[in-house]
Amino acid sequence: MSGHTLPCCKIGPSILCADLSCLADECRKMIHSGADYLHLDVMDGHFVPNLTFGHPIVKCLRPKMPDIYFDMHMMVQNPEKWVESMADAGANQYTFHVEACEDIPALCRKIQESGMRVGVGLKPGTPVETILPYSDLFDVVLIMTVEPGFGGQSFMEDMMSKVQYLRTNFPYLDIEVDGGVGPNNIDVVAEAGANMIVSGTAITGASDPSQVIALLRNSVENAIQKSQLER
Ligand code: DX5
Ligand code: ZN
Repeated sequence: MSGHTLPCCKIGPSILCADLSCLADECRKMIHSGADYLHLDVMDGHFVPNLTFGHPIVKCLRPKMPDIYFDMHMMVQNPEKWVESMADAGANQYTFHVEACEDIPALCRKIQESGMRVGVGLKPGTPVETILPYSDLFDVVLIMTVEPGFGGQSFMEDMMSKVQYLRTNFPYLDIEVDGGVGPNNIDVVAEAGANMIVSGTAITGASDPSQVIALLRNSVENAIQKSQLER
């Protein structure tokens, strides 16, 4: 699990609903708008009913932005299969879904040994208890706030109980949320304790993405500051 520094706010736009024919330009636009990292959604048509892209695209993107943190959201069956290829392509974080994984400890170790941070994703129907036995093995927990597969869905506020539980029990953990997150619900997300904020259409569909990113950041930073004063 994460070290002993309190988690800080990071905003990671998802470019799923951007113009993927200009992927590098869309990613650069996010970086220039203030993104801390990029959340890249890999879908295989099996784990989720949609298809996107894989490591060959990531490998082409990497040299165009050498210093940007790539969080690979692996919505795939057999997530163990793509660890080496993603590491080789330049991924920084490999976020797999527990629902797709047979041997969680082995996969966590494999990801770590290949030099990436370990992210564990939970679909809305998966209880947070599923991952507790392995809490020493991952760096980030991704709480899905929509059913994975598509951008532009409605945020599920009832997932905030998972975020609250994790933040209370693991103060140093990076907690990431993904799905329908934007200016309308960032305050509940921030107050629940999430610090890595994925947001797709709310950012890529905005006329001024930098304004949305600043607003999300402001809310999360305020909540972190408030919680530190209360400690
Ligand atoms: C959905 C993806 C998300 C999605 C986020 O399965 O994992 O990353 O693209 O997009 P919005 O914010 O529009 O839900
Ligand atoms: Zn995602």
